[in-house]
Amino acid sequence: MDLYEAIKDRRSVRKFKPEPVSKEVLKKVMEMALWAPSGMNLQNWFFLVMTGERKETLVNIISKSYDYIAPALKEVFADKPGVAEFTRKFFKRLGGAPVIVFAYYMATKERPETSIQSVAAAIQNLLLAAHSEGLGACWMTGPIHVADQINELLEIEDKTLAAVIPLGYPDQFPPAPKRKSKRVVYEGFEDK
Ligand SMILES: Cc1cc2nc3c(=O)[nH]c(=O)nc-3n(C[C@H](O)[C@H](O)[C@H](O)COP(=O)(O)O)c2cc1C
Repeated sequence: MDLYEAIKDRRSVRKFKPEPVSKEVLKKVMEMALWAPSGMNLQNWFFLVMTGERKETLVNIISKSYDYIAPALKEVFADKPGVAEFTRKFFKRLGGAPVIVFAYYMATKERPETSIQSVAAAIQNLLLAAHSEGLGACWMTGPIHVADQINELLEIEDKTLAAVIPLGYPDQFPPAPKRKSKRVVYEGFEDK
């Protein structure tokens, strides 16, 4: 898949087929995540790629995070009430995703922004690689609201949850949301 095409065609997928994803494919996708740039090349990220029984317990915990994001969601999408309802349903089962990736970063002596940006770069690589493998995914920070409960279950104490990414074969192909204009300014070029 052409890189420009992959970047433009990737969508946030929130409904998945129950079909499992092989570990072989997941390993290819995760390898691409690990090729991301990182501040001071510390590669201070950590990914837990989960399927199986424990995933259901985590989905139950994550579903509770919808209550925290609902007020902001309803405000942003005041003109589209369907969005909040769709999102509520999505959070309930994470769209039936057969795999969930938990993306963490480890604190360093640098500012946390550096670590967050490093793990974010890895997540974007992951999303693009997943897309190129025919998989769908959704980058989610909503579940951070219940990070303490997630970490307790996963027995993770020394890392910070950056995002949760449900992953699987897509059962929906959402249209591309419009890009906002005037977000880039060029200066000093001869042509206008
Ligand atoms: C940092 C970040 C956090 C996000 N958190 C959520 C989330 O908690 N729940 C969700 O449904 N989508 C989440 N998204 C997905 C965005 O809603 C989505 O990227 C946006 O609507 C644009 O759609 P697209 O990804 O298909 O281009 C998040 C995306 C990013 C980059």
